[in-house]
Amino acid sequence: MKSNITFTILKPHAVANNNLGPILEMINRNGYHFVAMKMIQLNREKAAVFYEEHREKVFFDELLDYMTSGPIVVAVIKKDNAVKDFRELIGSTDPSKAKLGTIRRMFAESKEHNAIHGSDSEKSAKREIALFFTDDEIFI
Ligand code: RTP
Ligand code: MG
Repeated sequence: MKSNITFTILKPHAVANNNLGPILEMINRNGYHFVAMKMIQLNREKAAVFYEEHREKVFFDELLDYMTSGPIVVAVIKKDNAVKDFRELIGSTDPSKAKLGTIRRMFAESKEHNAIHGSDSEKSAKREIALFFTDDEIFI
């Protein structure tokens, strides 16, 4: 069965640049319902757990600097085939390679400051949702 929920983060510069509204609206307009949401600021430990698959990468420290630099919005969104379709909607990691009409093409500043996260698999979505939300905070 294809998962109908996925996890997203609106990253620090998307919040700082006042782009929350337009990005949330674009997510809604593409058929997603928000079933959980909060604004938080990550500490380094939590950011490292979240991005643990990248622990050995050269960009890891900078990624943690960035992701802890200001408030973010974390959310769970619902739609048929949510995980795969949402990755399409956000577009490539590098906005210069992202397709026209994708969120990153419209709102990313760079590969590092790329506006938004989307879980890359159903397994990742499950892990990431559990890092930020308890069952009673999710309104499926
Ligand atoms: P995300 O996890 O944030 O949704 O991004 P993604 O799946 O598209 O890309 P991923 O490979 O998981 O990389 C995680 C984040 O690390 C930063 N990054 N920097 N300097 C670099 O070469 C580089 N590569 C990746 C990006 O902020 C990316 O979103
Ligand atoms: Mg990723």
